[in-house]
Amino acid sequence: MNIRIPSFEAYKSDYQKSIDNPEAFWSNIAESFEWKKPWATTLDWNFNDPDVKWFDGGTLNITENMLDRHLEERGDQIAFYWEPNEPGDANKSLTYKELYHEVCKLSNGLKSLGIEKGDRVCIYMPMTLEGVISVIACARIGAVHSIVFAGFSSNALADRINDAKAKLVITSDGLNRGTKHLDLKSMVDEALKQCDTVEHVLVHKHTHNDAPVVEGRDVDYQSLVDKMDDTCPATEMKSEDLLFILYTSGSTGKPKGVVHTCGGYMVYAAYSFQNVFQYEQGDVFWCTADIGWITGHSYIVYGPLLSGAKSVVFEGIPTYPDCGRFWAVCDKYKVNQFYTAPTAIRSLMGAGIEFVTPYKLDSLKVIGSVGEPINEEAWQWYHREIGKENCPVVDTWWQTETGGIMISGLGSHSPMNPTHAGYPLPGIQPVLLDQEGNEITENEVEGYLCVKHPWPSILRTTYGDHERCKNVYFSHYEGYYFTGDGAKRDKNGMYRIIGRVDDVINVSGHRFGTAEIEDAINTNDSVVESAVVGYPHDIKGQGIYAFVVVDAKNNRDAIEQSVSDSVADGIGRIAKPDKIQLVSGLPKTRSGKIMRRILRKIAEGERSNFGDTSTLLDPSIVESIIEKAK
Ligand code: WTA
Repeated sequence: MNIRIPSFEAYKSDYQKSIDNPEAFWSNIAESFEWKKPWATTLDWNFNDPDVKWFDGGTLNITENMLDRHLEERGDQIAFYWEPNEPGDANKSLTYKELYHEVCKLSNGLKSLGIEKGDRVCIYMPMTLEGVISVIACARIGAVHSIVFAGFSSNALADRINDAKAKLVITSDGLNRGTKHLDLKSMVDEALKQCDTVEHVLVHKHTHNDAPVVEGRDVDYQSLVDKMDDTCPATEMKSEDLLFILYTSGSTGKPKGVVHTCGGYMVYAAYSFQNVFQYEQGDVFWCTADIGWITGHSYIVYGPLLSGAKSVVFEGIPTYPDCGRFWAVCDKYKVNQFYTAPTAIRSLMGAGIEFVTPYKLDSLKVIGSVGEPINEEAWQWYHREIGKENCPVVDTWWQTETGGIMISGLGSHSPMNPTHAGYPLPGIQPVLLDQEGNEITENEVEGYLCVKHPWPSILRTTYGDHERCKNVYFSHYEGYYFTGDGAKRDKNGMYRIIGRVDDVINVSGHRFGTAEIEDAINTNDSVVESAVVGYPHDIKGQGIYAFVVVDAKNNRDAIEQSVSDSVADGIGRIAKPDKIQLVSGLPKTRSGKIMRRILRKIAEGERSNFGDTSTLLDPSIVESIIEKAK
């Protein structure tokens, strides 16, 4: 299935067609896939409910498009190379045929555990092939997967299991990440003390750490699949049936379960993959994300397999055993398209060029960036030292909610402008809105980034709470999907993403709501209240700065440590504040609202010029915070 745009000219003409007649455009692309039953209506939508249906009436199973349809032509071709954390350990690979059988065996295994179409399965796994197989096996039998990144704490895992009412958890005994080894299974055991919907835990033995077994509940992955038949019919799914839930953070409350459905997501994951990376048959693609994030869903699992691609799954981290690991892996598998995050690029750039020079990197054709704005210096270094000035850098802007890449260059077709994501993909209609919600039509402007027409992989709802989906994404500006990002459009119409305009902090490309972190801090018995803001961080993009009011007067270092532990317990170590400042009070208005604007400025290093502070209940608080600011 080749749905690749061959040139920039073709892009321009496809873009125009996709705007003039989106339905004809997408229905033409969707015909390249295998459907069990053709759709009756290409698109039905309104953004007010919101209600979006793509390819309604059609039925399919996405895994038939990822596996079965490739068997004849490329059954013996590699689907995945697996590179372990330890460079010396044996690597593994799976051909399309092997992957197909492994998926079928697990699908049968899931059925034998009573998992049926529509049931939710939580996947909490390291970056193993079994993690990927678990995802696909769910999709094959119509179970809805909810992958939880294996860096989240047991409490965060429990919240997600409970919200989705998951019946099964798939996990591993342990996880290796650089020099760290984590007992994942015990985290699951801990989480399940708070959950009552889970009937079984399927445990893949990966680190062989003798994790305790709960009789009657825990099932050994290998023993289960060994008994199963290696073919399994793919369950017929309606185009708008749920494919997966993925939890992500927003401005308020607990993380919400973003819902994607089968037909539209399939079409857009494959279309965006092939076009952004200009993937050609035989190429080796490597996305360094974790399957627990949307990038892993769309560009490790779905996009590449739908396209019959060969790709790399990497268990480790960029800095282990040293800062040359990414480049060693690129050379080892002769990677053609490499896709990573600015945080990784910045930290490897900082480590020194001696970690790059031993490697040839001559197989690379396209190098990509995702998850956060990439600064000019990191962009230039990536382009020069990794791409050897031969590879286009695709700076891909998108979100968990958009399902696939929205604004980006298309391989070497598109003009590049460092730090600019560039032009929208066909079918994507971004707009910039001003404060009042009016579209700004001219160029060389800045505004709130919104999208005005649905594309196939737009989120459909937030699991169990449709009203929340409406309020967060569709109510700010009527008739538009609101991204939460601010952006600029340059004189050539290229977009440059500035960053979040809401209370979301993007730390190393990971999203956290300030409210979510404050909630975790406030569970600490010594804490009276807290306020969390983001600030610019050289490596991570943004760092987390917590202003905390405590009632204890004793050991302040111990309190800081305990506040940090509360965040690790409530969310995970990845959300630990970079700076914690104990303060006697927070700057509040007379009505009790925290003036975050002031805290943000202090966190950014500003020590004066706070604008109008006359509405503050106690302006002297600001002085006292500045005195001890970090
Ligand atoms: C940010 C990740 C600048 C943005 C795929 C967005 C970016 C949030 C870029 C979504 C980029 C993502 N340039 N910022 N190329 N890509 N972002 O849901 O703020 O984890 O709203 O999806 O990351 O994060 P999420």
